[in-house]
Parts: sequence; structure tokens; C-alpha cells
Amino acid sequence: MSISARLEACARTFADGTVGLHPTTLDFPAGSVTALLGPSGCGKTTTLRLLAGLAAPDRGGRVLFDGQDVTRLPVEKRGIGMVFQGYALFPNRDVAGNIGFGLEVRGVSRAERDRRVAEMLRLTRLEGLASRRIDQLSGGQRQRVALARALAPAPGLLLLDEPFGALDARLRDTLRGELAALLEALGVTAVFVTHDQAEAMALGRRIVVMEAGRVAQTGTPEEVYRRPSTRFVGQFLGTLNHLGQDRFCRPEALRVDPGGAIPATVRACFFEGGRYRVIALPEGGDSEITFEIAASPPMPGSRLRLAVEAEAVLRLPA
Ligand SMILES: Nc1ncnc2c1ncn2[C@@H]1O[C@H](COP(=O)(O)OP(=O)(O)OP(=O)(O)O)[C@@H](O)[C@H]1O
Ligand SMILES: [Mg+2]
Repeated sequence: MSISARLEACARTFADGTVGLHPTTLDFPAGSVTALLGPSGCGKTTTLRLLAGLAAPDRGGRVLFDGQDVTRLPVEKRGIGMVFQGYALFPNRDVAGNIGFGLEVRGVSRAERDRRVAEMLRLTRLEGLASRRIDQLSGGQRQRVALARALAPAPGLLLLDEPFGALDARLRDTLRGELAALLEALGVTAVFVTHDQAEAMALGRRIVVMEAGRVAQTGTPEEVYRRPSTRFVGQFLGTLNHLGQDRFCRPEALRVDPGGAIPATVRACFFEGGRYRVIALPEGGDSEITFEIAASPPMPGSRLRLAVEAEAVLRLPA
């Protein structure tokens, strides 16, 4: 059973006076998958720890699960599953022992435990590895064990902090896809932290972009990418071209057009598989702009004109 969660006016000030999170209200509807995205130190882990009950909000803040105040409820009573950076698996237990741990603690019968562990092994594609020791697993397999362990007690809320941080790019891609499918199938409310915009877009139906202890913008991946509310959000979500004053655009809003309004000199051109990425300096401008083309890469030093779709121009205050 998935639950809805709410942080209400939650702030977190540390003993040394550092503000990890300014007063923030955030809703996580039942069954939703939310990515907390932002640069290092912006308050992502702090937010997750408040939801988990690993930290308490400053006075006045409340944490609600399904409308019930759980602010004073300790972490073990909140019925959540957690996957944190570095997994923290139990080295002295085998794979099945790790996955079944949460069920054991809850006093679930042996038979039910075995059934549940087998289901988790299947869901996370770890069949055949039940009696392996943790140090005999690959990084990706360990990550799956951590996920299976968190999901085994059927938590109402799943919290993941940079779950793929330690893995190489290809494995991250694979696991991302698997996790997306798994969350969809289980319908569990999930909140995961990442500083990787591609990961946030791939996994989160909703992205909360954070900056310096505050929420900068909340929206679907398309909204935060296409309609960023600030320069910071725009730049964090991908390449943002500065067209002068408060005008910006994404690379895909530009096209080569002999009648285009922006004369520019090509600085560099990179082949990226399906297309070329071109960097050019507009005449009289001081910041380079990036665009993409499918064929006929221009030579560095050549001059061309670019047109921008009017409706794709973003106006972002400094
Ligand atoms: N125990 C603490 N005492 C003092 N300051 C802290 C403490 N824990 C975190 N902070 C500070 O609070 C801010 C937010 O930290 P947090 O761990 O939430 O960042 P984050 O977004 O998870 O970053 P990262 O991507 O690096 O994990 C940072 O400036 C951090 O230095
Ligand atoms: Mg963190």
C-alpha cells in the first residue's frame, strides 16, 4: 500500500548554524515518483532524512503520512524502505539473508519470508544468487540487493539517495530502466535523490529542482526543461543558450537558415552519433551558443546564420 507524504514548512538548521533546508512545503502523492535534483550541498539528502525520520525539522515543521502527523515517529516506525549511497548491506549475511532482514525484524513467519524473498529475487533479477555472499557480487548486483531489501517489507514509501552513484554509466542506464519498471509495477510512492539531470528525467514523473536549501522549481521533466523558472534551473537541466539580455533558448530551438536573424561563426563541431553538436559565436556577442544538426557539419571558422523559433525563446531574469 503506497502512502502520500507531505513536508509542511520543514526547515533544518544544524548545530553549527548551517541551514540545510529553508522552510519548505512539498507534497508526494500516493504512488508518485519524484526526483529531488540539484547540485552538491543544495539540501537533497537533508530533505530525504526529514521524510525518513532520520532528522527532525526545526520547530514548526511537520511531516505527514496519509495526513497523519508522523513528525515525532522514529524511523523504524514509519514503514519506509530506504536505499542509501553505498548500500550498507550486511556482509555477514548472504543475499537472501539481506533481503529477508526487514521481514525477520518484523516477525514475519519463515514461510511467508521465503515466499517474499523469492518474489524479490525474481523482481530484481537476482534468481540463483540467493546464497551468494555480498562480497561475491558485482556492484550492480549489490545495488539490486539493496533495492530488494528495501522493497521486501512492502513499504508505503521508498526513499533512494543517489542509488546508482557508485556505478558506471552503462550499468546506471540499465538499472534506471529496471527501477522505473519496478516502481511502476509496484505503484509505490518513491522519492529519489540525484544530481544527474538525465537520471531525474528518466525516472521521475515529477522533478523537484533544489538550489541552496530551497525548492527552485517543481514540475514534470518537460516543464522544468522547456519552461524553467530561473536561469539556474534552465542551466541545470541542460544546455541553455544566452541570446542577449534576458533571452535564452535550448539548442533544439536553433536552426541554420540563410534568412536567420543571428549571424555567427562556427567555433567547433562534434559528431555525437545521431547528429552533430555545433558551437558558434554570434556576431557581436560574447557567449557561445550551441545547436544541433543532422548532416553537413560546418567547418570551424565558417560563417552561417541561425534562426530561432519565437515561441521557444525563454525569458529568464538574472
Ligand atoms: N550535520 C551537519 N552539520 C552542518 N552542516 C550540515 C550537516 N549535514 C549537512 N550539512 C550542510 O547542509 C547542506 C545540505 O546538505 P545535504 O547533505 O542535504 O546536501 P545534498 O544536496 O544531499 O548534497 P550532495 O549532492 O553532496 O549529497 C550542505 O551545505 C551541508 O554542508
Ligand atoms: Mg546528499
